[in-house]
Formats: sequence, C-alpha cells, structure tokens
Amino acid sequence: MEIPANRLDRTFERHQTEYEAAALKVLRSGRYVLGEETAAFESEFAAYLGGGTCVGLASGLDALWIAFRLLGIGPGDEVLVQGNTYIATVMGITKNGATPVFVEPDAHFAMDPEALEPLLTPRTKAVLVTHLYGMMTPMAPIVRFCREHGLYLVEDCAQAHGAAYGGRKAGTFGDVGCFSFYPTKNLGCFGDGGAVWVRSPALAERFRTFRNYGSEKKHHNAEVGANSRLDELQAALLRVKLRHLDGLNAEKQRIAARYLREIENPQILLPEPAKGTVNVWHQFVVRCQRRGALADSLREQGIGTEIHYPIPPHLAEAYRYLGLSRGALPKTEALADTVLSVPSFIGLTEDEQTRVIRALNAFQ
Ligand SMILES: Cc1ncc(COP(=O)(O)O)c(C=O)c1O
Repeated sequence: MEIPANRLDRTFERHQTEYEAAALKVLRSGRYVLGEETAAFESEFAAYLGGGTCVGLASGLDALWIAFRLLGIGPGDEVLVQGNTYIATVMGITKNGATPVFVEPDAHFAMDPEALEPLLTPRTKAVLVTHLYGMMTPMAPIVRFCREHGLYLVEDCAQAHGAAYGGRKAGTFGDVGCFSFYPTKNLGCFGDGGAVWVRSPALAERFRTFRNYGSEKKHHNAEVGANSRLDELQAALLRVKLRHLDGLNAEKQRIAARYLREIENPQILLPEPAKGTVNVWHQFVVRCQRRGALADSLREQGIGTEIHYPIPPHLAEAYRYLGLSRGALPKTEALADTVLSVPSFIGLTEDEQTRVIRALNAFQ
C-alpha cells in the first residue's frame, strides 16, 4: 500500500457525520453568504484564540494583502519578512506595491530576530512573521523590536492554527494575525477560506467593510473593496473542525514526537522546536544534503514526500524585479535545497509510520 505525502480523506472520515450534518443544514437554509454560520465561526475562532475579533475572508492570501492595505502600507514602504516562507506571504506585501525585505531564518525555521536590526531603514513599516510548518516563532524579541521601532506586526498563521508561545496563541501577538483554511491546513476547510484576527475593533470593522465591496450599509460603498467573504458552507464545516482542532493537533504532535524519537540517521537532520513553543506540526520537515536521493528511495518504497518549498520567494520568477539572485540569502537557500516533508497527515497509522521510519533509517 502506498503512503502518499498527504491524505485529506482520512481527516474527513474522522468526523464525517458531523461534517455532513453541518453541510446539509446550510444547503437547506437558503442562506449561503454572510449569514449565521460565518458570524458564529468568527466568534468561536476568536474565543479559541483567546479574545480579540476575527473576520472571515476568502483566503489566506486575501487576509495578508487586505491586512497590509488597511494598515496603509503601500508603494515606498518596506516590510521585513522571512526568506523561508511560502510565496503567498510575500504576495500579501507586494500586491499593495510595498517592498519585501527578506530576513534570514534561525535554526528552528523561524525569523531570526538578530537579523532584523541591520535591515531597518526609514522606510520600514512592518514585520511579517510566518510560523512555518506549524512551528511557533518565539515572539518576545520580535514584539520588542516592533515596539522599539514603532512598526506594525503581522503574523502569517496559515500553517499554525493553535500553535502557542508563552501561553498565547499564534496570530494574537501583533496588530493582525492572518489565517488560511486551505484544505491541507491544520484547520482546513473544504475549499478556500481565510480569516484575520484583529486586535483593534475599529480595524476589524474596516475588514468587514472591505471584504464586501467596501460596503458598510447595503447600496452604500465607501471605498473600492473586494469580494472576499468566507462562505456559509465553509464556515459551518470549519465550526465542526474547530471543535476538534486541539485533538487533531494532539495527533500531529504524537506523530512528530515519534519521528523525533525514532528517526536515527546521521544523514537526516530533524526539526528542532524552539524553547517555550507549542508546535502544531503542520508539516514534519527533515533536512538532508542528498534530498533527491532520499525522496527517490522513499518513492521506490511507496512513500510520498513533498518539498516545502524548493524555490524561495526571492528567487521566484515573479520576484525577478527585486534584483536578488542566488547567494543573496544563503540560509534560506540552504533550507530550500535540503528540506523534505514526510507523511504526517491525520490518520497516518502506526504501521504506516513504522514503514516511513524504517525507510528513513535505512537510507544510505
Ligand atoms: C505560509 C502561508 N501563507 C499564506 C498562504 C496562502 O493561503 P491561501 O492558500 O488560503 O491563499 C499559505 C497557504 O497556501 C501558506 O502556507
């Protein structure tokens, strides 16, 4: 039996009856956009995150670009963002005409706070942190840096629903926390979806207006907004999954703990969570200098893998205009060349995991 890199059907089957009932209720309700389910999900997700306000949007990318837009960040402004992230993080900045300034990672895949100061310029307006792979960034030094320099702090929590540091959840450390509910995410829906956590109630209202054509009141449009609404079906399904999120994250944590205990191969570097962090292991990412050979060897044994991500944003074609070439971010590039995600999906059986561990340990 093949073990693919990911299997979303097993997450669905785990709570199938609840998902089906929730979906049917919406289908029968006659209300499909901006109704009770979205409002209920927004308040339940805000409560899960420990307070504040959540606003449902159409995707994680929308959450990011609308966040920077509403913070007034645009042409001529710079945003400090880690180099080793998914390209959508960077698009959230550049869709507003602002410039990303890339920060190298530390040993935990997180933004290195030591690397921030030298990149500061009079144009720097914000810091954007990604909690990559569900591994929480130790936020204290970054929060301090933003306070000292009067910068906005935005978190990309697309891969980190439920991760925490110092008893606080990812997404609630700064001005805006941006979430994606893309199906593969820890809190994934069954299509596209996203949300923001917002500290300021006034800013939350601006998100509500902006997501709905800039309309605060029917037929009155105060600004050119977007159509970026979390729909009722996705919201209802997310309410089901949110009830189970801690249990699902605990399963991811058990899978990761076993990998950390049992993978023993000098050629394979294991991920190292930073001190004081609660990690939700969106991906279990190892590093290997001979990554291609490792992936081939696993594939021959019926085990799928993924690379998150082989081309770092600064080397993507889309960002050629930034004028950065190979060598600009050596740590980021070294990660892009060596990272490999092994199966860690919800529902991975003990036997399947044993097979993955054996194959990793036998790799020569
Ligand atoms: C780190 C990160 N940021 C942003 C996004 C964008 O989210 P979406 O696909 O919902 O637009 C994703 C996921 O795709 C992501 O992994």
